[in-house]
Amino acid sequence: MKSYAVAVVGATGAVGNEMIKILEERQFPIMKLTLLASERSIGKEIAFCGKNLPVEILTENSFNGIDIGLFSAGGSISEKYAPIAAAAGCVVVDNTSAFRMDPEVPLVVPEVNPEAIALYKKRGIIANPNCSTIQMVVALKPIHDAVRIKRVVVSTYQAVSGTGKKAIEELSLQTKALMNCREPEVKVYPHRIAFNCLPHIDVFLENGYTKEEMKMINETKKIMNDPSIAVTATTVRVPVFYAHSESINIETEKKITADEVRKLLSMAPGIRVVDNPREKQYPLAIDAAGRDETLVGRIREDESIPNGINMWVVSDNIRKGAALNAVQIAEILIRKYL
Ligand code: A2P
Repeated sequence: MKSYAVAVVGATGAVGNEMIKILEERQFPIMKLTLLASERSIGKEIAFCGKNLPVEILTENSFNGIDIGLFSAGGSISEKYAPIAAAAGCVVVDNTSAFRMDPEVPLVVPEVNPEAIALYKKRGIIANPNCSTIQMVVALKPIHDAVRIKRVVVSTYQAVSGTGKKAIEELSLQTKALMNCREPEVKVYPHRIAFNCLPHIDVFLENGYTKEEMKMINETKKIMNDPSIAVTATTVRVPVFYAHSESINIETEKKITADEVRKLLSMAPGIRVVDNPREKQYPLAIDAAGRDETLVGRIREDESIPNGINMWVVSDNIRKGAALNAVQIAEILIRKYL
């Protein structure tokens, strides 16, 4: 079996760390793994397949001889280094928003539009969607194929791990401070996150939406290859460490019952239906954390319109929302294209 030289850019970060774990767990055929980060990480080592690998500094020469680069070190790093990597013959799977809406770059969720990967040949870059978008489209796609979705209204309850390691630490430190009657320090978010909800993710735009909300709207249309789906979003940061939860309301062209949605989703790839409210069983962030599947429950008909469905969708934002989705893309890439 062929094996590949893989680089993880942002190897010391929350997503980078998870990428390394998932490459090992899924036995990705690796000839050589290169771990890249900033000069702050000089001297650090990360365990992979029983060995400690050194973290190297990212430079313009880092990609010579690398087949696949998994990028998760922020948008500006991707903007600069992804084209350099691609020019060196490395296929980039980019986890940032830098190239997602570029018409020459495929935006891929393997359960939804794996065929789009073929477009990577244009720029040598494949974009991984936003974490909140990924779990939503995994749940929407089977319903869209069956009865066409006209409109989606989504509200998110997003974990701090989506912001990175510093935010995980901030929630932890603020919680400890408050439990000990000390004033919490506010550094990462504009307000305290412990025991609070912030209706503000990424920056505010001219239209009053946040960039995170517009990502969900625009990326959904691109991934589902259907600009006619109307989407509106409210994205909220909540004091949860891992896994995003989403309340999703859908209006469909044809009628579909809650039972039919349950059946459809229980057969769909990447989804686990957890929907037994009588037994108090519904998707929970603490259950989704560390797992690969997107959990869907609270499926019910929206009685305020003729063809509507409500559901509650929960997934590990660092795994399916980022690292796992990127590795799944790389798996298709080597199976079909490299
Ligand atoms: P480092 O740890 O050396 O700062 P998170 O999203 O969890 O904060 O992680 C961000 C990741 O991006 C880290 O691995 C971080 O490395 C990496 N990173 C940030 N800035 C740079 C840079 N200028 N060059 C290379 N890697 C960077």
